Amino acid sequence: MGLVTAVVFADYGNEVIGVDNDEEKVRKLKEGVMPIFEPGLKELVDKNVREGRLSFSSSIKEGVESSKLIFICVGTPPKENGEANLYYVEKVSREIAKYIKDYQIIVEKSTVPVETGEWVERTIRANNLKEVPFDVVSNPEFLREGQAISDAKAPQRIVIGTKSKKAIETLTKLYEPFNSPLIICDIRTAEVIKHASNAFLATKVSFINALANICEKVGADVTKVAEGMGYDSRIGRDFLEAGIGYGGFCFPKDLAAFIRISQRAGYDFELLKAVERINEKQRVNFVEKIKETLWILDGKTLGILGLSFKPNTDDLRFAPSVEIIPLLQKEGAKIKAFDPQAMESAKGVLSNVEYSENAYEVARDSDALIIITEWDEFKHLDLQKVKSLLKSPVIIDGRNIYKVEDLRGMGFNYVSVGR
Ligand code: UDX
Repeated sequence: MGLVTAVVFADYGNEVIGVDNDEEKVRKLKEGVMPIFEPGLKELVDKNVREGRLSFSSSIKEGVESSKLIFICVGTPPKENGEANLYYVEKVSREIAKYIKDYQIIVEKSTVPVETGEWVERTIRANNLKEVPFDVVSNPEFLREGQAISDAKAPQRIVIGTKSKKAIETLTKLYEPFNSPLIICDIRTAEVIKHASNAFLATKVSFINALANICEKVGADVTKVAEGMGYDSRIGRDFLEAGIGYGGFCFPKDLAAFIRISQRAGYDFELLKAVERINEKQRVNFVEKIKETLWILDGKTLGILGLSFKPNTDDLRFAPSVEIIPLLQKEGAKIKAFDPQAMESAKGVLSNVEYSENAYEVARDSDALIIITEWDEFKHLDLQKVKSLLKSPVIIDGRNIYKVEDLRGMGFNYVSVGR
């Protein structure tokens, strides 16, 4: 989020310094090596570095002293109990306070629990010994991985949470070229907007997954149900893809954090607890489905297509694959896998997996093909070839990427979700 934010502001003509305390990361960025796979990121970074608007540094002093606006984009990983860990936000706030010289606007972009903005303000005030004037703003980011650049360049809305007129003016001007609707509110409201948006989207995903389970029991087709619901503009078709549940670094952690925040505020957000439970169960249901199809997994080879939590990213955090693969291994299955981008990161997370060079190599001599991530290239496979390579023609699809009639017509035993 930090790197994407930096490069997008630079691309709109601002001078930007990207600061990280990880010196190795900064060194690599200076050499043009990206820390993550994100379509279009490297090209845009290269362009803005070349044109002199974007630079990188590991010195927070340099970053603060030479900037008018500071964006906090540090991580807020989950603690054991689901609460967001605000260690990095607090630390960076103290450091900023040490170096500010003239009036500064400090913008909190990381997803944080409500009231964090006010804590950032208090922390800076307490450590700002020269009493330099400053304002704190909450400006949550809504970009999605895999399409981060286009999301960040043209957000569907921009939320500016602050009471300071000066900060509102400065940020309104900064965001003018983005041409997106602005929502101006107080810090707490801005923080709740971010949590509420992620929680609502996760609710849509769990709703359609719950429906998928009912569709399987009554013999209906969840894809058609989603289509039928989606034409109603009050519902919308987006985020109604049934599958193996949501993953990634945002939904699971933000939902858990929102449940904790609500609890501490004295409200039991039962609805969101159910959303979480449905999501967790969806992975287990999928493993059950594989067992129902293949009966005994012990000694069988399962070919896995897709490891990242969604296509167009190499991100494995809270990915369904990371939960599903060990469950299959526990049953004695041997795992072969292919992912277009996430295999390197997978090596540090999963064990006893044989990585293949492409989807066909995964299919070769496997007892079944299991689809976990809906990368585009898997949608266009030569399925006759896949069938000839598999030991038996079985595809268990956690993302509903093929048409049931097509696969059954080709002689596959094709099992998908809610259809
Ligand atoms: C999300 C929010 O969309 C974004 O606004 C926020 O800033 C960060 O969190 P991201 O985590 O990149 O973005 O992924 P997103 O595209 O929202 O998907 C989240 C998860 O939901 C993925 O695991 C995806 O596979 C799953 N999903 C999404 C479904 O299972 N079904 C759907 O219909 C949509």
